[in-house]
Amino acid sequence: MRLVLLGPPGAGKGTQAAAVRDMFNVPHVSTGEMLRSAIAAGTVLGEKAKAIVDAGNLVPDDVMAEIVKERLSAPDAAAGFLLDGYPRTLEQATTLESILQALGQKLDHVVYLALDDAEIVRRLSGRRTCTVCGAPCHATAAPPRVAGICDSCGGALVQREDDREAIVERRLRIYHERTAPLVGFYRQQGLLREIDARGTVHEVQARLVVALRRKQAAPRTPSRMGSET
Ligand code: AP5
Repeated sequence: MRLVLLGPPGAGKGTQAAAVRDMFNVPHVSTGEMLRSAIAAGTVLGEKAKAIVDAGNLVPDDVMAEIVKERLSAPDAAAGFLLDGYPRTLEQATTLESILQALGQKLDHVVYLALDDAEIVRRLSGRRTCTVCGAPCHATAAPPRVAGICDSCGGALVQREDDREAIVERRLRIYHERTAPLVGFYRQQGLLREIDARGTVHEVQARLVVALRRKQAAPRTPSRMGSET
């Protein structure tokens, strides 16, 4: 199974990824997580990306293309993957098609987690992220069993630099301008599975499972498409 998880920042992509990964037994490929690991390790990529990520801007498409091409060419991604955070621009979507074509592969589904901006701000302002495994939790909505400690691996939980209010506003603006058009792009290709991302983690997960088991919908004609959804 080859899946893309699409959605605004804070919609719950990272949270839901664990369930999808276990359901299909595929690696979770999070470009945000790869960039944060590179930043933490102080690699050349990390040094190039740090200021961009901390400011909530997008890392250039050519840099992302190299990272994704290398990761999807790894043996553990040969039988499938869950791509989270890529593509984020129409240019990246076209690049992804080329990467997959060269590998003799195709996407099966694009799962779109739809959520309004007000709820996104609520979720991101309370998010805490594990410094070791990258797993997210929420200070009030999904609190860890022990304050400040990751349930999954015992690592320390911190607030991401780009979860500060002013940066979240910029990330949302960039999402609406650059990433939201991908919803129509993938819908037109008949690949989109739209999920209402409101409600509890378990409610969203249940919708996701149902949507992924549904039979493939026919491609939509441009005249039936909305501007974003
Ligand atoms: P990335 O890490 O991909 O950030 P994002 O897309 O903005 O997504 P988030 O990780 O913020 O949110 P999420 O949807 O995973 O939500 P989560 O599950 O954590 O990218 C970071 C940066 O890297 C980018 O800004 C950019 O600079 C760069 N980058 C990455 N990819 C790039 C690319 N392709 N091109 C260029 N640049 C790139 O949930 C959020 C919170 O809500 C958590 O606290 C969680 O516990 C809580 N929560 C989740 N579900 C629920 C629920 N149902 N109810 C209540 N709370 C919930």
